[in-house]
Amino acid sequence: MTFHDLWQFLVALIESLNIYVLLPILVVLIGCRIVKAGLFVWVTAWALAVYLTLRYGFVIAIPASVLSLYMGIVFLTLLTYVVSSRERWISFSRPLLRLMVEKKYQPLLVLVLVTLPLAAGARVYLSMTLPIQPPLFTRTVHPAPPSEPITVHDQEFDLNAVVNPFRELEESDLEQFQTHVENGRRVYYQNCFYCHGDDMLGDGLFAHGLNPIPTNFRDTGTIAMFQEGFLFWRIAKGGPGMPDEGGPWESAMPAWEKFLSVEEIWDVILFLYDYTEQRPRELEEHGE
Ligand code: HEC
Repeated sequence: MTFHDLWQFLVALIESLNIYVLLPILVVLIGCRIVKAGLFVWVTAWALAVYLTLRYGFVIAIPASVLSLYMGIVFLTLLTYVVSSRERWISFSRPLLRLMVEKKYQPLLVLVLVTLPLAAGARVYLSMTLPIQPPLFTRTVHPAPPSEPITVHDQEFDLNAVVNPFRELEESDLEQFQTHVENGRRVYYQNCFYCHGDDMLGDGLFAHGLNPIPTNFRDTGTIAMFQEGFLFWRIAKGGPGMPDEGGPWESAMPAWEKFLSVEEIWDVILFLYDYTEQRPRELEEHGE
């Protein structure tokens, strides 16, 4: 180790110390020396000095478990020192004895006897009553759909590429298209309006008891923002199929794949857009 290394080590050490805590501690210890304090005062001063140094004397906090370990060692050491000779024990315990038996110290004794249990109680109370804080997670109302294909009724659907198979009928065969929309209406009023409402405002009969509340499809910030594949996923897999970011609350949206056929799901999607006079977001052409 060169002199330079040593110097750097010292600088780092000093920088890691909290001088404004350590200096007063040093002053008090020197003060005890000057007034020739008794053993009881010394022992108390040392225990406090070590505790305050470990607790506040360093820039970086020391873990509480390490602190209590060190303090345990310090108490054992001080105890060993005090009881290792009769004279020491007597000079250590004299102030305590006087506090207990001398009449003039009686008020102080009462004070100590009241404060000690109070302080212990307050400590426990404070450590048990931590302020209630909101949980650290937030909920994504429209979580990203899974990138893996999903399986509905044994068919695989790649959500990045899937289109509503009946959407093109809008151009090619309007009559056929209307039949699918009508079927979607039936599906909606048999299954969905209890929650999403007669008028798709998200205010159905059950809506009041639900958190999160059912989606208001009239709101232009909902289905108009999505491709039909997104709705297909959400309707087929429901609340139980939500990824974690959709939490922390359980959504009551049922997984409709258990009750509806693939065709019925596509039909009800057509109906959602038709009824609210909105258009789904088109699939983007990726120039890859
Ligand atoms: C038991 C109540 C309930 C019923 C019945 C219900 N939903 Fe929902 N739905 C919800 C709730 C609550 C949400 C909002 C939470 C969520 O996204 O899961 C939701 C969300 C949705 C979404 C997601 C919208 C978005 O913007 O992310 C779609 C799509 C949807 N429902 C369609 C339907 C369809 C179609 C039906 C009928 C086949 C239906 N729901 C029946 C409760 C219900």
